[in-house]
Amino acid sequence: MEDDVMDYTLILTSVNEHAGLIQINRPQQLNALNAVVMEELAMALEELEHDERVGCCVITGNQRAFAAGADIKEMAEATAVEMLQRDSIARWDRIKKIKKPVIAAVSGFCLGGGCELAMACDLIVASESAQFGQPEINLGVIPGAGGTQRLTRALGKSKAMEMILSGRYLTAREAEQFGLAARVVPVEVYLDEALKLANEIAARPPLAVRFAKEAINKAFEASLSEGLEFERRLFYFLFTTEDQKEGMRAFVEKRKAEWKGK
Ligand code: CAA
Repeated sequence: MEDDVMDYTLILTSVNEHAGLIQINRPQQLNALNAVVMEELAMALEELEHDERVGCCVITGNQRAFAAGADIKEMAEATAVEMLQRDSIARWDRIKKIKKPVIAAVSGFCLGGGCELAMACDLIVASESAQFGQPEINLGVIPGAGGTQRLTRALGKSKAMEMILSGRYLTAREAEQFGLAARVVPVEVYLDEALKLANEIAARPPLAVRFAKEAINKAFEASLSEGLEFERRLFYFLFTTEDQKEGMRAFVEKRKAEWKGK
């Protein structure tokens, strides 16, 4: 791994072959997401977006906690007007704008804003010890960074209602069974597996990867007919790229394709 790059205070960043790794580093607070963590996360992702070595990003925490939520101490005494003026959740929009795929490598507590952060990523690789939950109801609030929307799309209405209204957690196996996590692996290897997958994705033609991500995300924003139309346009557009010619010619010529990202 090559160490980085910029001096962050509450995250660590590195590049592992072609995977950019961001590790939330507030272990004493179970990686609670305060304003500094979220600002640094957004900055690091934006930096990796422009790093030509990197084709895919991974966000992780540690074995005990991916993140136990937004920082409760930071907001406990805030007024509604202060919350509105801080509008700290607006930072999350910067994560959504990242064009390279982002994998959440989740172990341990993945709660509240932590679960929302994992769901804002493109896919989740979970360790067997991961626990997913939206326990905001126990604090007298509701999820505020996408939980009611993304969990409902991921699990369906009934499961999302059960989790958000009761605060009940899902185990890693349940998260996989219900489609929230792409895969569950032993805790010793969850980060390696996520990095391996990130490097596999990074070895694919980058424009097709980018468009595939955009098209899948469109499924959450658009009607089926709009989504299908969007997908079709991206599909046709890829025929302007050198990588499409290279990929199809390599198949016909029975050789390995060499991608240029053009
Ligand atoms: N914010 C701030 N600090 C937190 C935190 C959070 N979300 N979660 C844990 N911590 C801190 C604890 O205060 C504690 O710090 P101190 O040692 O200084 O007291 C430290 O991390 C360790 O936590 P615990 O002693 O509580 O550890 P535990 O193993 O007994 O319990 C836990 C672990 C069940 C995850 C428990 O810490 C917990 O319930 N945390 C809060 C989970 C939660 O409610 N998350 C939602 C936050 S609101 C939100 O995210 C809003 C949104 O949608 C944007």
